[in-house]
Amino acid sequence: MNNANPIKKNAKTVNKYLKTKLKGNPKILYDAAGHLIVNGGKRLRPYMVIKSCQILGGKTATATPAASAIEMVHNFTLVHDDIMDNDEMRHGVPTVHKKFGLPIAILAGDVLFSKAFQIISSSKLSGGAISQLISQLAKGCVDVCEGQLLDIKMADEKRIPTQKEYITMIGKKTAALFDVSCSMGAICASNKKKDIQNLSSFGKNLGIAFQITDDLIGVMGDPKVTKKPVGNDLREGKKSLPILLAIKLAKGKNKKIILKAFGNPKVSKHDLNNAVDVIRSIGIEENVRNQALKYADRAKKSLTKYSGPAKTELFDLLDFVVKRSV
Ligand code: IPE
Ligand code: IPE
Ligand code: MG
Ligand code: MG
Repeated sequence: MNNANPIKKNAKTVNKYLKTKLKGNPKILYDAAGHLIVNGGKRLRPYMVIKSCQILGGKTATATPAASAIEMVHNFTLVHDDIMDNDEMRHGVPTVHKKFGLPIAILAGDVLFSKAFQIISSSKLSGGAISQLISQLAKGCVDVCEGQLLDIKMADEKRIPTQKEYITMIGKKTAALFDVSCSMGAICASNKKKDIQNLSSFGKNLGIAFQITDDLIGVMGDPKVTKKPVGNDLREGKKSLPILLAIKLAKGKNKKIILKAFGNPKVSKHDLNNAVDVIRSIGIEENVRNQALKYADRAKKSLTKYSGPAKTELFDLLDFVVKRSV
């Protein structure tokens, strides 16, 4: 990953800022709120805020509060998502509700959410820009809630969703925060509607490509790299793009092998591996990677009229997102 350094460099600035904001009493509440942040995370969204500000000629310092705020909101969604998904580990450590218990985890999420708005409302920008930032961030949060609900609904239903329904769901649960990251960065540098729209479109399309790739890794990821068993999402019955395509496109015996593993917690390792092999053999990986590339292309087109180092860095990030294997 040739863009590890700029992301990490940016993460340092954001981490420093976050550290000053995640302090207070009762201490355990702030320890819980900072638990996932201090134990990892790629800080992709803050990077996108800063680069979206820079591409329009803005300064890093202007966008640092918004960059930190989006990371807080992202972590708020992770804490609550792990409760909803009943997940026990993230960033290689126990999830917040496992370590601190459910009531503190709910509050940790709430405090992250609230502090994010507090931070952007006191940033040193014009009143107009601050109100736009608040409105964008609030819209992003509403979208995540709607997307999470669609995700739960899809999981509960027996029906296999259409590709369109899947894209709508991930557009809200995941891409909305990438979209908002870029539009907030743009607002920190420009009051031109078109600039904000272009960056927002870049973020949204990158976010969709990100989740599609994430879902591919969830099925075929190398267990040595992902630290999760191969075929995890298939066994859990997740209705992600690679799985819904596999069920739709497989025929006869192949389809039977996939359905034997799909949503079957008791499936043997042998049968699960067989199902993943079938999914590989019918070209699902290529199909899904191509779809991620389609959204990456759309993202690129949104930035046609811009140039400079921040654009190159955003394109490098896009490249990393679609090529990553973890
Ligand atoms: C994880 O996002 C949640 C999803 C939207 C799939 P990231 O991969 O960006 O989370 P970090 O890097 O652990 O913070
Ligand atoms: C994460 O969705 C999206 C949000 C946190 C809003 P998932 O549940 O699919 O992602 P992981 O696997 O927990 O990161
Ligand atoms: Mg989850
Ligand atoms: Mg989830």
